[in-house]
Amino acid sequence: MAGKVGILGSGVVGQSLARGFLKSGYEVMIGTRDKGKLSDWLKKAGKKASAGSFREAASFGQTLVLCCKGEAASAVINYAGRQNFSGKLVIDVTNPLHFEEAGSPPTLSVAFPGSLGATVQHLLPKSKVVKAFNTVTAKYMCRPKLKEGEPDLFIAGNDLEAKKTVMGIAKKWGWKVHDIGRIEESYLLEALTILWIRYGYMNNSWTHAFKMLKK
Ligand SMILES: NC(=O)c1ccc[n+]([C@@H]2O[C@H](COP(=O)([O-])OP(=O)(O)OC[C@H]3O[C@@H](n4cnc5c(N)ncnc54)[C@H](OP(=O)(O)O)[C@@H]3O)[C@@H](O)[C@H]2O)c1
Repeated sequence: MAGKVGILGSGVVGQSLARGFLKSGYEVMIGTRDKGKLSDWLKKAGKKASAGSFREAASFGQTLVLCCKGEAASAVINYAGRQNFSGKLVIDVTNPLHFEEAGSPPTLSVAFPGSLGATVQHLLPKSKVVKAFNTVTAKYMCRPKLKEGEPDLFIAGNDLEAKKTVMGIAKKWGWKVHDIGRIEESYLLEALTILWIRYGYMNNSWTHAFKMLKK
């Protein structure tokens, strides 16, 4: 029995990670303000999948995944109820993206020395927040297989056991994982996403991914 995961976000990321956890044997509840939008997804997701409010999903999960729109992170934590995060591993996949002009790439709404990862940990002092999966497109999150090879995953967080758990999950899905330090280093991972997005806008290509090469 792998346990229960509450996924706080119903977009492509929430759905992709939910599929990954379900395949790995977890029970999953996706949290949203509007369960109706998940009815098609639920039909295909199987018996171990469900949908609920942000609060229901946060209360359901032994492990929580925060994967809402970055600018709504604080609101989603409030909808979910802070007490429901207490003592739990929280995998933070969000990016603080700010879209100013249609057609232009976003900028970061919080940046060095701050980050959304550190903000989430600050909002949830009793949780073990691990920033992970935010530098990769939803398509590859649980299946990092590109024609060109296998990309790498970068994570950050303060709790070593929590990072070990995330590494274990990611490795099972096929990732090579690099721990880049404490949650305060999330600004690096969030900036890396901006590099990924900038490359996408300039080349009209959205299937790239990062790899660390070393001797
Ligand atoms: N798309 C990717 O490939 C990718 C890759 C890496 C990281 N990320 C990051 O992962 C997160 C999720 O991305 P996404 O593309 O799946 O979807 P998204 O559109 O960024 O987020 C969708 C989720 O945000 C919630 N939300 C939006 N506005 C809200 C508000 N005002 N109040 C409360 N909740 C609100 C939605 O709630 P409802 O369910 O109620 O609609 C939904 O659950 C983002 O932070 C993104 O930067 C995305």
